[in-house]
Amino acid sequence: MEVATKQDKEEPQPVVTYSASLGFKLYVLCVMTLNVAGYILLLRYTRTVDGPMYISTTTVVMIEVAKLICSLLMLVRDNRSIGAMIRDVYKNVFCNPTDTFKMCIPSIIYMIQNNLAFVALSNLDAGTYQVTYQLKIVTTALFSVALLRKNISWLQWFAILVLFSGVACVQLQPGAFSQKSDPHMNFAVGLAAILAACLCSGFAGVYFEKVLKGSDTSLWIRNVQMYLFGIVSGLVGVYTKDYGKVMENGFFYGYTPYVWAIVAAGSIGGLYTSVVVKYTDNIIKGFSTAISIILSSIGSFYLFGKNISLLFCLGSLLVMVAIFLYGMPRKVAPKPSESSATTKPV
Ligand code: C5P
Repeated sequence: MEVATKQDKEEPQPVVTYSASLGFKLYVLCVMTLNVAGYILLLRYTRTVDGPMYISTTTVVMIEVAKLICSLLMLVRDNRSIGAMIRDVYKNVFCNPTDTFKMCIPSIIYMIQNNLAFVALSNLDAGTYQVTYQLKIVTTALFSVALLRKNISWLQWFAILVLFSGVACVQLQPGAFSQKSDPHMNFAVGLAAILAACLCSGFAGVYFEKVLKGSDTSLWIRNVQMYLFGIVSGLVGVYTKDYGKVMENGFFYGYTPYVWAIVAAGSIGGLYTSVVVKYTDNIIKGFSTAISIILSSIGSFYLFGKNISLLFCLGSLLVMVAIFLYGMPRKVAPKPSESSATTKPV
């Protein structure tokens, strides 16, 4: 894998582009997409099953802890020893507070977003959640234009619209709102949570991409910076929302193997998301996640006994067409600066 550093006055962000083989990109996109689908189903299942209910704010903290441990292990691999990893983290995280604090913003926003997912999935069924959450592709595209000055062609905006037509069709399927009648679910609360999560997702994702590609600090250092703040802000969330429950029942109250599976899936999903953003971008990530709607809906049909409708098939087809249209090659005139780009191995 290689890092190409490109200084371009017309497009100042990102300044660092990472390249990887198509096979590797497809691999991380597939793992992330399948993982998102599994995560949603697990989360939805554990919020509806009978028995002692775990405290969701603690799960958000545990996911951050797991991601921090994995990122440190990746740094051990890159630095080839634990001592060198500690020095690397000390130099880049603790001795560089201005740079580290840049990750405070996405970390807090992701923490809010991750908590909102629990609120949304406690009040909406998995299919409705997944489909509505795809609004994040528009917020991501808008933030990409605003923060990264990304050039999105008319065909690509059209592809985003087609994607929406597709997810709308999936949403309109007869079974999509069937669980609204559940007395424990509040559709309006679920919808408000998901809309807020879309804004958080768009902003935090693009901000992370901007910081990651705006310097040559490694992905794993960026992740360590972010997850440290994530643990602190997550603990603040536990304290403000569930202090009484934790004091009464303990931090790990209600932790079944399914909840640990959520911690595993949530952390794998987060780490793969960061790799996907490094090698592609947030918009491509959004398209890939759209596939997980289809997969999780199919999972939902089997798990919760729903039927696959014609509208669902049409919606899925439109999502595929959108992905195809968005990925169509564009004729771009070569920039003179690209010929002078420097390339260095990572
Ligand atoms: O729904 P969305 O794609 O915005 O979710 C991104 C997820 O990836 C969040 O749960 C966030 O915590 C996680 N993430 C991460 N590390 C990054 C970037 C995102 O764990 N570097």
